[in-house]
Amino acid sequence: MIHLFHVTKYYQGCLALHDVTLRVEKGEFVLVTGPSGAGKTTLLKLIFGSEVPTEGQILVQNRNIARLRPSDIPYLRRTMGFVLQEFKLLPGKTVFDNVALPLIIRGLSSTEITRKVMDALRGVSMEHKKTAWASVLSAGEQQRVCIARAIVNSPLILLADEPTGNLDPQLAHDITELFKAINARGTTVMLATHNRQIVEQVNGRVVSLHCGRLVTDQGGYR
Ligand SMILES: Nc1ncnc2c1ncn2[C@@H]1O[C@H](COP(=O)(O)OP(=O)(O)OP(=O)(O)O)[C@@H](O)[C@H]1O
Ligand SMILES: [Mg+2]
Repeated sequence: MIHLFHVTKYYQGCLALHDVTLRVEKGEFVLVTGPSGAGKTTLLKLIFGSEVPTEGQILVQNRNIARLRPSDIPYLRRTMGFVLQEFKLLPGKTVFDNVALPLIIRGLSSTEITRKVMDALRGVSMEHKKTAWASVLSAGEQQRVCIARAIVNSPLILLADEPTGNLDPQLAHDITELFKAINARGTTVMLATHNRQIVEQVNGRVVSLHCGRLVTDQGGYR
């Protein structure tokens, strides 16, 4: 499903990832851990295609994402959802409209948009807030709406960057359960976190980075 071969990433001379080789199978739940600056966000951005590797190759569903034709990019993006490290909802729009955005971009009909948005909101227990402005939500509610927006296209792969940062332990626990449920329905999940409690709760494969190098890979199917 996701294949990295000897991937190295430099940002203006700064080494963020060094010679990382990693294979993630369909349906896995992979936790990406490591200290601040280890390269976790960089790894997820490379898989999402929002950064390009300096060296090496990345295959996502057998497509080399560095060599995609521009016309293939929207297709690939639709198969992936990304929950960013910082919440990024549009504050001047409602919960419904925030979640609908990826579907509006795809040009779906309004009936279909309503059905998919309400399914996604139910999945994160936020359907009762569909008409609320994003700006008035609590941190945990905002994070749940971000997850709804990331899953609204029924992605095959869900990438989540520190999705429980700044949340209290109970909310972090609930959101982690949500990711487990999404994974149990067949979505491949890669979640970057510093949080030990989440690593224990998920009990999945743990990939650790240190200064851009992959130092351990435990709990995989292989
Ligand atoms: N756009 C950028 N330009 C220059 N350097 C960058 C950029 N993005 C990341 N870096 C550098 O690359 C390295 C890896 O950063 P990255 O954000 O991937 O780490 P991280 O493991 O996600 O850290 P954190 O846990 O703090 O989120 C860091 O040294 C960082 O300073
Ligand atoms: Mg990060």
